[in-house]
Amino acid sequence: MTKDLPKRFFVETWGCQMNELDSQRLSSQLMQEGILPTRDASQADLILLNSCSVREKAAHKAYSRLGEYRLLKQQRPNMLIGFCGCVAQQEGAQALKRVPDLDFVIGPARVGELRQILQQRLLGKRPVATGFPDASDRNYDIDLLSREGSHKGMVTIIEGCNKKCTFCIVPSTRGPEQNRPIGDILAEVRHLLDFGFREIELLGQTVNHWRDPGTDADFAVLLDRVASLEGLERLRFITSYPRDFSQEMVNQFARHPNICPYLHLPVQSGSDRVLKMMGRGYTTELYFDLVDRLRNSRAGLALSTDIIVGFPGETQQDFQATLDLISKVRFASVYAFKYSPRPGTAAPRLNQPEVPLAEADRRLQTLFSLQKEIQTELNQALVGDIFDVLITSWGKTPGTQTGRTPCHRVIHFEHGSEPAAIGDLVRVKVEQAYAHSLIGRAMSHSDTPAVRSQDTSPLPIIT
Ligand code: SAH
Ligand code: F3S
Repeated sequence: MTKDLPKRFFVETWGCQMNELDSQRLSSQLMQEGILPTRDASQADLILLNSCSVREKAAHKAYSRLGEYRLLKQQRPNMLIGFCGCVAQQEGAQALKRVPDLDFVIGPARVGELRQILQQRLLGKRPVATGFPDASDRNYDIDLLSREGSHKGMVTIIEGCNKKCTFCIVPSTRGPEQNRPIGDILAEVRHLLDFGFREIELLGQTVNHWRDPGTDADFAVLLDRVASLEGLERLRFITSYPRDFSQEMVNQFARHPNICPYLHLPVQSGSDRVLKMMGRGYTTELYFDLVDRLRNSRAGLALSTDIIVGFPGETQQDFQATLDLISKVRFASVYAFKYSPRPGTAAPRLNQPEVPLAEADRRLQTLFSLQKEIQTELNQALVGDIFDVLITSWGKTPGTQTGRTPCHRVIHFEHGSEPAAIGDLVRVKVEQAYAHSLIGRAMSHSDTPAVRSQDTSPLPIIT
């Protein structure tokens, strides 16, 4: 066992945006110690696996990946392996027993302690840092945060979740809600804008349930304050809980053009009976009403959602209600999953008949093909429209780049004589449309004056 700090690290990230941001936080702490990243795990002498446990065989998958890293460690005996994320929180000290070469375990609420944990490891301990300290005890050093290579600045505003959706493991892996103070959030957004980001994404498992611990200001107030910051061109937030979406929050879409016309609003099912068994605390009536109010507040608002098929007790009729909801709302995209029983959740104890796997598969495919038709139609209606596109990456072919429209659609486009930098905004005309992407061409400066998203002409209405 070496007593020296590692020289190169490699982080593997699974799961949601929060894990993505946690990985950035892990990386930045290592870089502060002079430990540099590598893209090749076999060159690393510190490997971090940032795991996700939201669905299916998560623990099994994580252990098998740790097994692969152990093989690398056999060739590089000084290498350290750290197990992070939601599966690490769940498994805790047990992981050290199951994986003899594992060096340490860090849960999501302890990400800020990596440097101390590494020091402890070098002193010969095998630390397990799990559990949920109070927000005020969590290290959250924003100035150190590395956001390299990213086109957007992500800011956690609320950690954990207090809901009890009967299928979901998140409340047990990320703990109870912890709200960050409004002053800290505004300072972090300011810092990211000064750094050069034009797009800010606020993060939380139930992001719109945020409340300022000091003043009790709610998420509508926060949206208003953040959207008013000088230099912010695009504001997004994820994930909103339908029942917690107040009219004041809806109004912010009308008030601030720089709040993107895009909202991820997980509905989970189109059947009130299933929603009740899921413990979601709202009905489809509430959802439809909210969608109407949102669309009235902002033309061109694109919605995406999460849906679970094959929840225990879901009948053909319930599933049909989900298809009906999809046809009625016409989402710009749908993330649909087969139900997967998670340890410690209430759903398996509801004594409902399981939906056979083959049937759940069939439902998922039916749902996907309906959604594909809708998505293609919605996207084709955008051909000829002009958007300010935020560049997210280089394209697959020379002369092209990829980005996102304000309504969060992926667009591949031919850049002009000069490519734009990742994170910049470019005006692009849509020329073709498919179910999952748009194809376009950058407009030259003589075609159109350079404008910021605030000044953009109204977006097409998607109904
Ligand atoms: N509020 C969280 C939800 C996290 S889980 C958020 O940030 O989105 C993300 C999605 O995974 C959920 O909306 C749900 O559709 C799906 N999911 C969660 N638990 C699941 C399970 N046990 N089986 C199948 N899908 C699940
Ligand atoms: Fe999970 Fe429901 Fe919270 S889906 S993260 S328990 S809002």
